[in-house]
Amino acid sequence: MTYSRIAGTGSYLPEKVVTNSDLEKVMDTSDEWIQERTGIKRRHIAADDQATSDLALAAANEALDMAGLAAEDIDLIIIATTTPDKVFPGTACIVQRRLGIRGCGAFDIQAACSGFVYGLDLADRHIRTGGGKNVLVIGAETLSRLTNWEDRTTAVLFGDGAGAVVLQETDEPGIISTHIHADGQYEDLLQVPQGVSQGYDITRAGEAFIQMNGNAVFRRAVATLDSIARETLDKNNIDKHDLDWFVPHQANMRIITAAAKKLDMPMERVIVTVDEHANTSAASIPLAFDVAVRDGRIKRGELLLFEAFGAGFTWGSTLLRF
Ligand code: UT7
Repeated sequence: MTYSRIAGTGSYLPEKVVTNSDLEKVMDTSDEWIQERTGIKRRHIAADDQATSDLALAAANEALDMAGLAAEDIDLIIIATTTPDKVFPGTACIVQRRLGIRGCGAFDIQAACSGFVYGLDLADRHIRTGGGKNVLVIGAETLSRLTNWEDRTTAVLFGDGAGAVVLQETDEPGIISTHIHADGQYEDLLQVPQGVSQGYDITRAGEAFIQMNGNAVFRRAVATLDSIARETLDKNNIDKHDLDWFVPHQANMRIITAAAKKLDMPMERVIVTVDEHANTSAASIPLAFDVAVRDGRIKRGELLLFEAFGAGFTWGSTLLRF
């Protein structure tokens, strides 16, 4: 049987750090409110001359290094992003050019904060059906470009960054199962209302940025993460206590804690980066994962659960042995 496994991980965070105290100076908020309601302390913000592909490229190079591969070994590049460099070509094609390779497939996917687990689902199926041996899956975002810095209800929540993995063909799993879902009826609760085909209306400038009904999204996220965890474990006949690590999407510390509690996971077994990175959407899981692999917490052979929830709504999970 053919399976896929994660051969290498990488990540990149822009140099500029914006703390809650920095935000206190430019909007009506407080470090205390932000930490209490979200767990966030600081976020990284891309420089004016940095685009999503810059962040993605740096993360991809680290993942290739760890996997011991050259860029030419890559058969497919998938980038999950809500903040592509341009309308087209896809950011994956820009990264392909900058990796100095030609010919392999390269495309972007848009599944908001669930984009990375959607990407893993596609990449795993691609490898298992003989489409290629090495797939680069990247989550990369410059959400600061979609942030309305005059809206305190969203501006304090997001950050920029990128995370990447190389998924590689192998004869034992690796990726055990992937699960992706969506329910489009919740469009109004979390969105950027303006867009290409609907046109941009400069008299409604605030609608070119993220808008969220935080409270409604929060409640839905907690319930959905619980159901996707149960679906994933039941499908594989795995007891929640067998999990070594839980790597959730990093949107809010209270959501992470609630999801961990349902899984009966002690917080020492949960990878948390929301305090340092804020919500980096599609980049948050691969970023958190790379941090914990590189600091030695997550080790080869351990059983991991990734879980994501985002605009759409979209949600999904990955169960894997690292
Ligand atoms: O990644 C995709 C999925 N996204 C998420 O999962 C995010 C889900 N939602 C959340 O994380 C939380 O709902 C938020 C952190 C966004 C908000 O926390 P909350 O506990 O749901 O607060 P709230 O929206 O109910 O607002 C409570 C109060 C309001 O004041 P009033 O109306 O009670 O007087 C807000 O105006 O807090 C106020 N508020 C703020 N105060 C200081 C909202 N934003 C701020 C702020 N600083 N930045």
